[in-house]
Amino acid sequence: MTTQKYMPFHLHNIDDSRKLMPIKSPYSNEEIGLLYPCSKDEVDESIKRAKAAQNIWKTETVRQRAELLFLWAKQINSSVEEMASILMQEVGKGIDDAVKEVKRTVDFINYTAEEVIHMTGESMRGENFPGGSRKKLAIIERVPLGVVLSIAPFNYPINLAAAKIAPALAAGNSCIFKPATQGSICGWYLVKTLIDAGMPEELVPLITGKGSEIGDYLVQHPLLNFVSFTGGTETGLSIAKKVGMVPIVMELGGKDPAIVFDDVDLELIAKTIVAGGFSYSGQRCTGIKRVIAHKSIIHELTKLLTKEVELLSIGSPEDNCSIVPLIDTKAADYIVELIDDALQKGAVALTGNKREGNIVYPTLLTNVNLNMRVAWEEPFGPVLPIFEFETEEEAVNLANASDYGLQVSIFSSSYDRAFKMSDRLETGTVQINGRPERGPDHFPFIGTKHSGIGVQGIRKSIESMSREKVTILNFE
Ligand code: NAP
Ligand code: G3H
Repeated sequence: MTTQKYMPFHLHNIDDSRKLMPIKSPYSNEEIGLLYPCSKDEVDESIKRAKAAQNIWKTETVRQRAELLFLWAKQINSSVEEMASILMQEVGKGIDDAVKEVKRTVDFINYTAEEVIHMTGESMRGENFPGGSRKKLAIIERVPLGVVLSIAPFNYPINLAAAKIAPALAAGNSCIFKPATQGSICGWYLVKTLIDAGMPEELVPLITGKGSEIGDYLVQHPLLNFVSFTGGTETGLSIAKKVGMVPIVMELGGKDPAIVFDDVDLELIAKTIVAGGFSYSGQRCTGIKRVIAHKSIIHELTKLLTKEVELLSIGSPEDNCSIVPLIDTKAADYIVELIDDALQKGAVALTGNKREGNIVYPTLLTNVNLNMRVAWEEPFGPVLPIFEFETEEEAVNLANASDYGLQVSIFSSSYDRAFKMSDRLETGTVQINGRPERGPDHFPFIGTKHSGIGVQGIRKSIESMSREKVTILNFE
């Protein structure tokens, strides 16, 4: 059987001699598709055409733009099973979670369309300012930015891509879409549903190819007006240095801690932490990546966590296992390195510490200290260190010591305590009695410090991908 080729829709002069990039499934290792690596000239041509197409798109009414998004959501909704199956094969996410991701995307796009319909401008008179005049009226409206570049990561190849494309288009922009290479087949399907819904192909050019090869050219293109990036902190930092005067929103890595006090139902919290830390083998930016437990319950909590981790299913995403092969060998090597470093420095592995191919068994580490890499680095894999605290001060300091600042969970039955502690935490979001997570998708989603710049979330994304424009009437 020949492998399917996934070619960009908007390029009509495909170079037949170019070597295509094979994409293999991370769990079956089978080749599931061949990708066309776009050249710099093709990137340039795509952005120029996207600019021209945006000049027409921005003249459509908000309602017309929203109607097209509703049609897009409908197209995806009629292909949930097919898209989820591709998603599972390409990035190895359990099939139930893959279905959830596609359905969440349908909801996301519908909500975006509804939101943009209900976003209106404002007006103000000059008289409010000292010495100002009533005869001055400012009309403040939102206008699109122009050409948006969206770069998405592998781990939510459909949802996190749509979470950029939908608000970009809703706001009246065109959107250059660069999916993660491992995630590009999902990206291809996503763009296909959009074109099938009636979107002109020039408005959403799919740029496939390795970030390391075309990324620099892409992010520095002079016709770009906005960059929306989700991915690793290292990549994000290097892009941030290159984009110049172009506004950016970046959602990057995390090292989210779960701080556990002694006044909670530990059995329940252990289940929540294990689900939060190990689902999709820990390949979530909002995964729990540190446990910080009160001295008086650390022993009991550790026992319960160990029991829960031992119950995790390990194997194939087709069987909905929680622990699946990591995205590639490099990712698995990295997790093993972090575990080995911790063990050499005195940590004890209560579970896991075993590897089969790219499956890393879920590893709980105790007896950890701050000299270990696992105390600081983002694993993006199934390893979870357990730290101890005695005073609230210690817990806050430990949580804040990280370079990352995505989310922090506090588990305590005292809302008073949790609320006061929340004020002192350097993070985008504090979850009280809940695990870190991005959704619901209309909530603002914020990375601070090395976890990002700016805010995502449906309304916030539409706002960041548009700007205010003021027209002032001066009358007699
Ligand atoms: P990654 O390696 O940083 O890649 C992210 C995207 O950037 C991919 O599309 C990649 O393309 C592209 N890229 C790589 N080098 C580039 C360059 N020089 N210029 C422009 N683009 C470039 O991240 P990942 O492995 O896909 O995802 C895992 C990371 O993302 C984790 O750190 C995780 O925490 C973070 N993440 C954060 C959030 C959040 O919302 N905070 C959400 C999801 C993931 P190629 O695939 O072709 O290299
Ligand atoms: O991987 C990063 C995603 O933004 C996390 O989304 O919290 O819904 O799993 P999630």
